[in-house]
Parts: sequence; C-alpha cells; structure tokens
Amino acid sequence: MKNQELIHKINKLKSEKDAVILAHNYQIPEIQQTADFLGDSLDLARKAHSDSHSVIVFCGVKFMAETAKILSPDKKVLLPATDANCPMAEMAEKRALLKLKEQYPDAQVVTYVNSTAEVKAISDVCCTSANSVKIVNNLDTDTIIFVPDKNLGAYTQKFTDKKLILWDGFCYVHNQFSSEEIDGAKQNYPDAVIMVHPECTPEVIKKADKVFSTSGMVKFAKESDKKTFIVGTEQGLIHRLKRENPDKQFLSLGAAKTCRGMKAIKLIDVYNALKNDQHQIHLRDDVMTGARKAIEKMLDYA
Ligand code: 13P
Ligand code: SF4
Repeated sequence: MKNQELIHKINKLKSEKDAVILAHNYQIPEIQQTADFLGDSLDLARKAHSDSHSVIVFCGVKFMAETAKILSPDKKVLLPATDANCPMAEMAEKRALLKLKEQYPDAQVVTYVNSTAEVKAISDVCCTSANSVKIVNNLDTDTIIFVPDKNLGAYTQKFTDKKLILWDGFCYVHNQFSSEEIDGAKQNYPDAVIMVHPECTPEVIKKADKVFSTSGMVKFAKESDKKTFIVGTEQGLIHRLKRENPDKQFLSLGAAKTCRGMKAIKLIDVYNALKNDQHQIHLRDDVMTGARKAIEKMLDYA
C-alpha cells in the first residue's frame, strides 16, 4: 500500500473506532504528519489526560504509552510496535530503588517519566525534561533521590540547593553527543544557536547555548530571531523544526543520532494497530494506582 492510501485508511479507521493518534517529536515524518497531536513527554501526558477519545494510538516508546494508560485506565491504549522501547527506562529497577530509599529514609523520590510503571509506583513524584527543576524545587525535603537519568539529574542539580542523589542511568542516544562536536559546530557556524537536550552529558551542556526539552526547542526556534540552529537531540525533531520554520536552518550537532525505539513504528504499524486493536497496554491495577499518584502530582505542580 502507498503512504497516501495508508493515511486514508488510517483516517477512516480512526473515526470508526473513535481513536486519536498521539505522537512524540522524534517519530518518522509520515507519522508526525498523520498524528492528531505531536509533542514532548509532558505535552503528551497532558493530552492523554484531557483527551476524550475511547482509543489512543500512541506513537512513541512504551513508557509513554504506559503513562497514557495510567492516566486514562478506561481507554484502550495501543502501542503499534512491540519493540518501541526506551533502554533508559529499564535502567532503574524496583528492588534496587527500594534499597536506596531505605538508605535515605528522609529523601523523596523524583522519577523521570522515562521509567517503568513499577518504579513510578514507588516514587513520590514524576518529572519530565521540561519541568524537572520546578518539580524538585517544589518538594518540601532537602534530599531527593533522582531516577534514572544521571545527566538530567546533574542538570537539575545546578538550579537547586537541595541535594540530589543520582541514579546511574543515561540515554544511549544523547550520551553520544560530545564536547568536540560542540567545538566543531561553533567553529563552522559561529552565528548559530546550539541547543541541546538535558539528557546530554554535563560537558556538552556546559558548552551549549541553550538547554531544552524537545518541545522547548520547538518553541524557542519559532520565537527566536536567529536563522541557524544546531540541534543536540534525536534527529527526528529536525523534521518538525524544518516543517514549522521553513525560513530557518536546522542542523544536527555532529553526526545525526537515532533512537531505535522511537523509529520502530512505521505507518503500516499504525494501520495494523487500528485495524486489529494491537498492541494493547495492560498494567496491574495496584501499579497503575501508585504510578498515577506520582504522575498526577507532577501535572498538578507543573
Ligand atoms: P522530551 O520530553 O524532551 O520530548 O524527551 C523525551 C525523550 O525521550 C528524550 O530522549
Ligand atoms: Fe529513551 Fe533516549 Fe530514545 Fe529518548 S532518545 S526514548 S531517552 S533511548
């Protein structure tokens, strides 16, 4: 089937099944264009919370679809590809976190949404890359266990007097950006703005001009007078940036970096998901109840 035909069938199934397609900013161009809503993790969690369709087709990675299910337990949430995973989400495990909590009984746990539902369920509050500073500073405790991204944790630490105990997790995609790539970009494009994601290493963040979540980059690029932007995040975002700002130039920081999980979903998978109701997200009720508290607390704060 050609893309146009697929898109036509997807749209037909969407109205028959009362479905909405939510997609992350890293998705492939065809999916970005077919989606009803495109955003970063925080935008997508908010949308999943407020949307009224009975079916959500989630084009992103598993933890994002799980967040949608946790916030809308009565809806059918479909993840079109079974290998749409975020390896960082698997880096924090429930038993190890329980042990760390025992070591720091007065600490509260702030868990990045890139985590499993089980870990969220034993956390005090969740955060995303768009609101981690606000969330941490809102808590009435001096010690915080920050899970699982050590880079986002180190970035957040710069904006708070609280002590953050960092988990040893990281994103294998953002960890590939190097400070040499920043030096090269500065040399080749002296007038460009270098914007990076807070999942990048502290060395990279230190040399960058701006640090934003993916939707933060979209907003900044739209509002800025600058013409050239060097983008230090997964390459999928560049498609959206170019489409929404045709008069501006967007280049990857160094070689383009790809997240395999984010690229697992193809247009045909979206069609099959709608046609066959696959692959449904199922979570245990007690896990959903615990995780919902932490996610809703984040949405209330931010
Ligand atoms: P954003 O919330 O900034 O879109 O980030 C999600 C993510 O997985 C980054 O790698
Ligand atoms: Fe996870 Fe990194 Fe992919 Fe984001 S880019 S989904 S953090 S592996």
